[in-house]
Amino acid sequence: MKQWQRVVIILFTYLWGCDSLDSVEQKTRVQTAFEGETVTINCTYSTTDSFPYLFWYQQEIKGYPRYMLKKFPGSGEVDKQFEERFNANLNTSTTSVPLTIKNLRVSDSAVYYCALRPTVTKTHSTLIQKP
Ligand SMILES: *[C@@H]1O[C@H](CO)[C@@H](O)[C@H](O)[C@H]1NC(C)=O
Ligand SMILES: *[C@@H]1O[C@H](CO)[C@@H](O)[C@H](O)[C@H]1NC(C)=O
Repeated sequence: MKQWQRVVIILFTYLWGCDSLDSVEQKTRVQTAFEGETVTINCTYSTTDSFPYLFWYQQEIKGYPRYMLKKFPGSGEVDKQFEERFNANLNTSTTSVPLTIKNLRVSDSAVYYCALRPTVTKTHSTLIQKP
């Protein structure tokens, strides 16, 4: 009989740009599950943007972050490479975008990033100190 292996998932969130009003939050930092299971990685965000764009990235050990999918109200897209087993559900009433991985594999052991695109209409000013 097959010995089921544990899969370790580490979560990180980040925000594009630096806007203190907007943020993403993941309550779980390290999550483990067994091969073949379906896992949900929670990510909640807060933003003043009424049309937020949320992204998920996967970074394998020693790898670069890879774009997986993006979601915005009413639509979104999943990269071909991930569409078979990965998806996320953006819910603007609960301000969450949980990632679901079906039929978990050991090779899914990775760091997953949930990212919020900051409000593009905001302007950033730079303080210049004169001598
Ligand atoms: C993720 O969120 C759902 C719904 O809010 C909750 O039922 C579930 O326990 C959460 N999972 C984790 C791992 O925090
Ligand atoms: C969003 O979450 C609310 C509350 O849990 C739920 O009633 C609603 O069906 C969800 N909407 C979508 C699009 O999943």
